[in-house]
Amino acid sequence: MIKQITRRARSSTTTYSMSNVEDTRIAVIMVGLPARGKSLIAQKVVRYLAWLSISAKAFNVGSYRRADTPQPTADFFDTKNTDGERLRHAAAEAAVADMIKWFNNDHGVVAILDATNSTKARRRWVKQRCDANNIETLYVESKCDQEELIMSNIMEVKTTSPDYKGQDPEAAAKDFRNRIRNYEKVYQTIDEDEKDLTYVKLIDVGGQVIINQIKDYLQSRVVYYLMNLHIKPRSIWLSRHGESNFNLEGKIGGDANISVRGEMYAKALPDLVASSVGPDQKLTVWTSTLKRTIQTARFLAASPKGYDKLEWKALDELDSGVCDGLTYQEIADRYPEDFRARDDDKYNYRYRGGESYRDVVIRLEPIIMELERSENIIIVTHQAVLRCIYAYYMNVPQEQSPWMEVPLHTLIKLTPRAYSTEEVRFKGNIPAVSTFRTKGSTAKHQ
Ligand code: ATP
Ligand code: F6P
Repeated sequence: MIKQITRRARSSTTTYSMSNVEDTRIAVIMVGLPARGKSLIAQKVVRYLAWLSISAKAFNVGSYRRADTPQPTADFFDTKNTDGERLRHAAAEAAVADMIKWFNNDHGVVAILDATNSTKARRRWVKQRCDANNIETLYVESKCDQEELIMSNIMEVKTTSPDYKGQDPEAAAKDFRNRIRNYEKVYQTIDEDEKDLTYVKLIDVGGQVIINQIKDYLQSRVVYYLMNLHIKPRSIWLSRHGESNFNLEGKIGGDANISVRGEMYAKALPDLVASSVGPDQKLTVWTSTLKRTIQTARFLAASPKGYDKLEWKALDELDSGVCDGLTYQEIADRYPEDFRARDDDKYNYRYRGGESYRDVVIRLEPIIMELERSENIIIVTHQAVLRCIYAYYMNVPQEQSPWMEVPLHTLIKLTPRAYSTEEVRFKGNIPAVSTFRTKGSTAKHQ
């Protein structure tokens, strides 16, 4: 029996702080016609940077405009409409002012100005405001003229936008198409005479990328991330290894074999996966280099579908240093101060001679980049590593992610949607100990 639980990620409006790039202030200025994925890109960049502990926030001009004009029709966006022009400029001004305030008061590092910024004059104006406040500017243009894709974007996200709440989707789509036409009348792509700007142009969803004048490390990290994004439908499956002999003994770390019940889960996994993968879909299996994940995934790799398989050192479990091979009770007895310190700040606590959750996130960054580039992937890994990857997709705050319960013998399917990630859990229904420990307890696994 397969149990399914569906839930949605939090939206990414939360801001995060703590950064080792505190001297940098970058305004990422989105450029492009409506329905070109600017908001999606903005939200993803915020989520990615927040996951890396870089303070980031998106400023969506549409939300500011909505305060005065909640449901405009297409003619509001005609530049001949003087009232429309005034209100749109006021919205842009309010967003830029808040953005600058955020840099100055909240030690912001990367802000995303999410608007069309579709004329050279508008882009100059934003640059002047940023220059005057010592904020670097990085323009990100999304350019795409594939009519079919734009129509599907409109149907997917625009007809359900608050701009069209309560309206007929067909009429909403038609109005939005007319809104785009009004923008097209004045839209100027970033071109030769803007060579002094730092910019990246993503053409046809990254089919072609043009990069100009990237100035520093953080800018190049953002650009590299953008270059890896795609919007093909796909899912990511996450599973811990089957129950191990160390799990049975309540010991952490190590390189134990899977238990008899772990072996049952390994055998059940191909069917569990098959029940949620389309018949013709290709799937690649990633494991750590530790025996328990390799053993758990071995029937998947051997399935008639012949899934490709890759072992990653970066997916190995959080290194518990001198505590490797101990039970939580033994750690509390031998290193009581460490035990308390870890409970106080589990994300940042680094085991003596080992790692913290923060360290694991840093080593997982190439994995996230590779996941963004890839299509269907199943990752068989470990409790702490799975929490970190899950936190990236579901936008889970740092203080919460190390305490998330991720049971054994459960397959998690994550499917990226326009502005969120959809989650479905499939329970293997094979008993296993719980390795979850609440704050303050030394509970033996049971
Ligand atoms: P608006 O100016 O109206 O706010 P927008 O440019 O912010 O529009 P989004 O709301 O982000 O557009 O559109 C999301 C849709 O765009 C999704 O359906 C997504 O699949 C698609 N999309 C994402 N990236 C791109 C891209 N680079 N080019 C075209 N479409 C994209
Ligand atoms: O039309 C799409 C949109 O996102 C509107 O919701 C918003 O008011 C506008 O773009 C913001 O861009 P601009 O600065 O060009 O008015």
